[in-house]
Order: sequence, then structure tokens, then C-alpha cells
Amino acid sequence: MCGIVGYIGTEQAKDILLNGLERLEYRGYDSAGIALMNATNVEVYKEKGRIAKLRGAVAEEAEGTTGIGHTRWATHGVPSQENAHPHQSTSGRFTLVHNGVIENDQELKEAYLLDVGMKSETDTEVIVQLIEQFASEGLSAETAFRKTLGLLQGSYAIGLLDKEAPERILVAKQKSPLLIGLSSHGNVVASDAMATLALTDQYVEMMDGEVVILTKGEVNISALDGTPVSRAPYTAELDATDIEKGTYPHFMLKEIDEQPLVMRRIIQHYQDDAGRLKVDEGVRQAVKLADRLYIVACGTSWHAGLVGKQFLENIAGVPTEVHIASEFSYNRPLLSERPLFVFISQSGETADCRSVLVDVKQLGHSTLTITNSPGSTLSREADHTLLLHAGPEIAVASTKAYTAQIALLSILAVDVAQGKGATLDFDPLKELAIVANAMEVLCDEKDDYEQMARDYLSDTRNAFFIGRAVDYYVVMEAALKLKEISYIQAEGFAAGELKHGTIALIEDGTPVFGLISQPHVAGHLRGNLQEVAARGAHTCTIVTHDLATTNDAHVLPEVHPHYSPLASVVPFQLLAYYAALHRGCDVDKPRNLAKSVTVE
Ligand code: F6R
Repeated sequence: MCGIVGYIGTEQAKDILLNGLERLEYRGYDSAGIALMNATNVEVYKEKGRIAKLRGAVAEEAEGTTGIGHTRWATHGVPSQENAHPHQSTSGRFTLVHNGVIENDQELKEAYLLDVGMKSETDTEVIVQLIEQFASEGLSAETAFRKTLGLLQGSYAIGLLDKEAPERILVAKQKSPLLIGLSSHGNVVASDAMATLALTDQYVEMMDGEVVILTKGEVNISALDGTPVSRAPYTAELDATDIEKGTYPHFMLKEIDEQPLVMRRIIQHYQDDAGRLKVDEGVRQAVKLADRLYIVACGTSWHAGLVGKQFLENIAGVPTEVHIASEFSYNRPLLSERPLFVFISQSGETADCRSVLVDVKQLGHSTLTITNSPGSTLSREADHTLLLHAGPEIAVASTKAYTAQIALLSILAVDVAQGKGATLDFDPLKELAIVANAMEVLCDEKDDYEQMARDYLSDTRNAFFIGRAVDYYVVMEAALKLKEISYIQAEGFAAGELKHGTIALIEDGTPVFGLISQPHVAGHLRGNLQEVAARGAHTCTIVTHDLATTNDAHVLPEVHPHYSPLASVVPFQLLAYYAALHRGCDVDKPRNLAKSVTVE
């Protein structure tokens, strides 16, 4: 979602900001802007649409060694130039960028800003106008800033320029991610280290409720009440090549191809000296103490959680429930006596998950985050973290993080089972290594899946994916992947449910993909495919090697049935990729979507 980049130093800020914003494009946005400050002036440039358009709009001669930039994903008010950030106070003294949502903006407007003419429909403008209001009443800019922050309800990451103090940027954070970066020629502020990796790998974390006064040589951190805070920098463990496409046309394709490597990396990270899969002792104890696990997640991560439940119950014998984060607060289940909440989130920033995390922590429950982002909000705030080690995932559609989540949940289940002294009838290490090889085979079969996309999806309005048992969860993910990047209306169904309603939608030529990887339901699934074929559907069977017949064209390499989702999802990821490509969609940045969903 929205992204912030700021710079103060000795170099010209323009390209640092624009390049940084480009690095944040993956988060999803619909407008962007920058403000450049020099000793006498602040110039603001904003555009609806892509950064490339903004770049074209910024004057060649625009100068300033201090600046702030922003990509906006609309919440309050439509995507437009007026609503794009940065926003300026009426006099033009203060210029501000903001991520997050201010929940009491209307109340604040009514209480303090009735006489102020607003230029935008955003909640953000209220912040900058309040700062000006308090400064005009005689407060210093810093005190006005702190007073304003004290009034805000909701979430924010803020960068503020003050024309009367060009030697500093004021920065604040509450619930929205923000980092300070240190470089040899100045300091930066960014929503994500990826934005400024070209300048530095040295970062200082910011905590909720903190304010930073950033100058070109110093980082002064304090609590909202002014109490100084000291914090050492850390080295961001990001490799600049991880965030480059290299020879790939799209990040999504690169990330699909990286999955075998990610599997092997996970096996390495979660193995003890004796070659047994294992998780951190704290996590092990937390699971041991729990009488029930509650997995909480959204979207693709929720789909991974559904597969994870199978592992945790079938391999480890731990009762597990899986919940959609955004529904959890209204439909809270009766909790067991000793629950462990497991948040699955690639970004570690998903607001829906965080809201549940805050609630359950207040109730005193134990929490674990499974994430790809060390240092993310969900990771910092949960009692325990397991990292995916998948490397940055840039494409909005999640692929390698999904399979990494499933792999890690399987390792957690194996670890718990081993801890209980259970004897497993399979060697998890060997089976995961077989999965990595199978993924490689599937990635080498891209031409087949490109052809499948042409044959089945080139001009269809909708598509159905059916499966039974764990395949049902995989086909839900297959449908989500297809709809989010190709805009084809796609649904994943439990195959047995078709005849209870959905089969009415089957017409001549409707594509129906059936996944068969589970021996005990293979026969039923084939029956369901015949039922829809008899009603005109254009059916496609994707089946594992052991269950294939001579008529099956799309056969998956054999993996252990426990691990089949890790392999069987790959063809669907490729299918979605090629369908989107053939339809001319922006594969990596699908419309309306954001990578990191930081609003509820
Ligand atoms: C779909 C996708 C989303 C995310 C969801 C949760 O490809 O990426 O459905 O899975 O927004 O995001 P995280 O995992 O960051 O909490």
C-alpha cells in the first residue's frame, strides 16, 4: 500500500526519491508525488498514475537536497492529483506525506479546522493543517507536530517538511511501517528498506509512538512526550539483486522459478546438526503448551493456513482452526483454555492480522508470527517469529511466499510430532527435497502451461477450479491467483459442492480445472469432471503421476501426498501468469491491489 521515501543530505534529492518510489511500486498505488526543499522554497509535484508519469512531470531544473515522496493507494477520496501526497498547509509552510488511516479526521476538522478550506478529500490534509494551526498559535513546529500526533487516532507514518527549518525532516510512526536509513552523504526515511537499498544497508528501526528529527548528519529519536530514545542501527539483510528482475520479464515469473531454491533454503534453515527438521525452542514450547492453534491470516496466506491445518492435525495431532483475520473480531470462536495464535503474513504488516494480534495480546494469549519480513510489525509484536527466508517477494501476486508458508507449517508440524516422540512413516527432509526437484520439473514445463492458458483462458469470462480434500485448498489459491492478475472471474470449489448450486453456471465452453492429487478422492473428482463435461464444460485434469491414466495430458511429478500442495500449485501459478500475459494485463502490479495491505 502507500509508500514513503524521504532524503536529507548533500546530494540532489529528486532522483533518490523517484528511484525509491519506483522500488516501492510493488506495494500497489494509484498516484504519487514528491516535494523538494531548498533553502528558500518547497516545490511539490504530484500525478495520478505511474511513477514514470510523475518523473516526466518533475521539472528538469527542480532542485533540493531535502525531500519527501509518496505513493498513494486511495482510501479517503478517489485517486487524483488533488488527493495525491504530499499535502501542504494553507500557507504552504508545511508539506507532509502520510501512510495509514486517521480514524477521527472528521472530529478533528470540526474541533479545530472549521475555518480552513481543504484542498483535498483526504484524512491526511487534516494533519498538515492542524500542525499549521497550532504553529500559528505560537507553538514551535516540533511542539505543534507532537501536539497534532497526540490528537490522532488510527495509524500513521509521517514525513514533514517545514519551509522555515530546511535543515531537518520531522518523522513519526504509529502502527504503519517506517525506517530510518543512514548513508555517507545523508539520511533517509522509508516505508521499506528496499526503497533505499541503493544508498545504504544501515537502518534504524522506529517504534510506535516515536518521533524522529532527521538532519543530514543526525537521527534524534524520542518518545511522543520528548523523552530521548537511543537505538543502534542494524544491517538490512537484503541483497540488491533480490529486488532486480534480472533477465526475467516479470517478478512473478522470477519468483515462481525461485521456489525450488526457497524450499532448499528453508530445509537448511530449519535443520539441526543431526539433520532433523526443527524449529526454535521458544516456538516449540509455545506449541507444546497450547491446547489448540488458531491460525489467522488473509488471502493467499489464509489458503496456506488451510493447508497447514492438515499438517498440524494429521502429522502432529494438534487441533487447529483457521480464520480469516478481517472476520475474526466479529465471529470470534469460543477459545480453548490455552490457545496459541499463529499469524501467517508474507509482509508482516497486514492491518487485519495486526488488529487481531492486538486484541488477543490484550487477552493475554500467546502469539506466533510466520512471516517473510524480519522486523515487520507482526513479527515485532508477536511473542515468537518463524521466518520464511523466501527473499523479497515483489510481484503483488504471492507465489514463493505461499509455498514457503506451507513448507514452514509442515516443518512446524513435524517438529511437534517429533517432540511428542511420534514415529513418522515418512522422512520429511527427503520428501521436501523431492518437492524442490518436482517444482523444478514443473518450472521447466512453462510451455505446456502457456499453451494451457491459450487453450482454456484466452477469451473466457470465467473459470472454475475444483478439488477435494487438500486439493480444495489448492484450487482456492489457483482461483485467487487467476482472478487477481488476469481479471477473469475465477472460483475455487470443493468439487462435491458443485451440484449444490454452482453447476448452474456451467455453460458450453466454461473452463473447469480439476486437481487430483489425493488417492482417496480421485474417483469422486473424476466423476465431478464428467458431470460438468456432460453440461458443456471445457475440462482440464491436472493429476499426480500415481493417479494418472493414459488419457491425462497434465501429469504432476510424484511427491508425498502430505506435500502435494507444494507441487500442485505451481502449474496454477504459471497458468495465471500466462493468462494475464496473453490478456495484456500488468502482471506484477494488478489493478486496485496492494502488496502490503496496511488498512483494515
Ligand atoms: C494474493 C496475495 C494476497 C495476500 C494477502 C495477505 O496473491 O498476495 O491475498 O496473501 O493480502 O498478505 P500478507 O501475507 O502480507 O499478510
